[in-house]
Amino acid sequence: MKKDIITIKDLDAGDILEILDLAKKVKQDRAAYSGRLRGKSIGLIFQKPSNRTRVSFEIGMEQLGGHAMYLGPGEIDMGVRESVKDVACVLSRYLDGIVARTKEHADMEELAGYATIPVINGLSDYAHPCQAMSDIFTVKEKLGTFKGVTLSYVGDGNNVLNSLMCAAAKVGLDMKIATPKGYEPAKDIVRLAKSFAKASGSKLELSNSPKKAAMDADIIYTDVWVSMGQEKEAEKRKKQFRDFQINGGLMKVTRGGCLIMHCLPAHRGEEITGSVIDSKDSIVYDQAENRMHVEKAVLLKLLK
Ligand code: CP
Ligand code: NVA
Repeated sequence: MKKDIITIKDLDAGDILEILDLAKKVKQDRAAYSGRLRGKSIGLIFQKPSNRTRVSFEIGMEQLGGHAMYLGPGEIDMGVRESVKDVACVLSRYLDGIVARTKEHADMEELAGYATIPVINGLSDYAHPCQAMSDIFTVKEKLGTFKGVTLSYVGDGNNVLNSLMCAAAKVGLDMKIATPKGYEPAKDIVRLAKSFAKASGSKLELSNSPKKAAMDADIIYTDVWVSMGQEKEAEKRKKQFRDFQINGGLMKVTRGGCLIMHCLPAHRGEEITGSVIDSKDSIVYDQAENRMHVEKAVLLKLLK
């Protein structure tokens, strides 16, 4: 049976840890895995722009000896030029896997439902599972463990947080989250993440207080205030998120040596100041690099 990665829920803790272990090996010895996916092809169906996701999957696939083809709005225009179903069924006859970035999560699910090949979510408005797996990989790489580590997230209760919260809870990484009132993550995903945290024995704390979340953080994480597709709400959001900026003042309540993460793209002066994201404790470029190692592991697991 084909396996998709649409949300973190599709994976149990063992699957995630296996992917992270393989990613570590892939990162340490690129040559050992070159050629492992020779003869395999993936399509990248993107309805929104991308730097990291597109480039890391394309180059990752190339490093594994396979082929990746970008299929943006200018190429197939999924859902506009033809239906999601027709795209899924036709591409399943040519390709071995699909990485998709959709505006609506429902389109991602429909695509996976009709495709007979693995579908990997490269971001929807609801989830960003590859980002989350790379992020927890980066945490483990930097701190050596998940146990007793506190990852704090200050910002929007969005797609990135939904997946990060679930991934952290699955592997036993503690999280403290602060979102403005009205921008909390959806109740169903909080309930799910809490059930994962209970099973792994990790802590998951949500509030509307950036200071409370940042207190004693080992790592502090944020994402943009205005996600792709929310441009019309930009002015309103910028006002409502004003007190949720990661800046020098907030960094003072974190633990000494607290690391800084951001999935990127970043808006300096909005969700994070330039002096924080460009400081010596920022690991955002390692975090971005790790997308490729983790995604290579995902491709090896799903396409082999
Ligand atoms: N973090 C991330 O997914 O970046 P892109 O939108 O550039 O792919
Ligand atoms: N939350 C952001 C993440 C970008 C990688 C967005 O959806 O635009």
